Amino acid sequence: MNILKFATNEELNEAASGIIVSLVQTNPRAVLGLATGSTPIGIYDSLIEDYRKGRVSFRQVTTFNLDEYVNIPEDHPERYLNFMKRHLFDHVDISPEKAHIPNGNAADLDEECRRYNRLLEDAKQIDLQILGLGHNGHIGFNEPDLSLNSGTHVVKLREQTLQANARFFESIDKVPTQAITMGVGTILKAKMILLVVRGAAKAETVYQALRGPITTNIPASLLQTHPHVVVLLDSEAGRLFDEYDNV
Ligand code: GLP
Repeated sequence: MNILKFATNEELNEAASGIIVSLVQTNPRAVLGLATGSTPIGIYDSLIEDYRKGRVSFRQVTTFNLDEYVNIPEDHPERYLNFMKRHLFDHVDISPEKAHIPNGNAADLDEECRRYNRLLEDAKQIDLQILGLGHNGHIGFNEPDLSLNSGTHVVKLREQTLQANARFFESIDKVPTQAITMGVGTILKAKMILLVVRGAAKAETVYQALRGPITTNIPASLLQTHPHVVVLLDSEAGRLFDEYDNV
C-alpha cells in the first residue's frame, strides 16, 4: 500500500487525475470505477481540464459507479446519476452507454442488482477504482456490519451516514434510507484502487482502516488485503500518518 500526503488540495487532485490520465493514455479502453461524494469533485475538475487541453479522451472508456440512492426523485441533484453528469459526464467525451450506474428507482431492485453484477462480470475487471471514505469507514455504501456482501446489493443506510449526507438535502428526513451499492468483493477485484480521503474529521477513521485490524466493522480495512492500493490524503486526513508512510 502506498500512502501519500499532500499539502494542498490542488496537488492531491493533480496527482489523482495524473494517475487516471496516464492509465487512459496507455489503455484507452480502460474500465474505471467511479465514486461520488464531495471528495472526488476536485479530481473530476482536474480530469475535465485535462480533457479540454486535449491530453486525454474518454471516448472508449467504460465506467461503473459504486452506488446510487434508492427512491430518490429522478431530477434530484443528489441522485448520483445527476451528480456524475454535473461533475464529469457532461463535460467530457465519455459515451453515455458505457457509463454505468445502478438504477435505484428500478421497479425490481434485486433484478437491478443482478443486472449490474452481470455488466460488471462482462467487463471482467475494473482497472482502477476510485474510492472515497465514509465517516464510519464505509466504501461505496458498504456499511459497517457483522458480515459484508461480495456483489451488488441493496443496503439500509446507517444513522451516521444519513447524518453525514444530510448536508446535501433539505433535512435529514429527506435523505434516502436505502441505496444500491457495488459489493466489497467487486471493489477488491479491481486491478488498482485509489482511496482518496480529505479532512480532519476522517483522520481517525482512515488511520484505523489502514493501520488497525481488518474488520467488517470498518469496511475500508479490507483494503489492507488488496495488492495495489494507492492512498491519497490531504494533510488533515493524514495527520496520524508519517510524511511518506509507504508499506
Ligand atoms: C457517500 C458515498 C461514498 C463516499 C462517502 C464520503 O455516502 N456513498 O462513496 O465515499 O459517502 O462522502 P464525502 O466524500 O462527501 O465525505
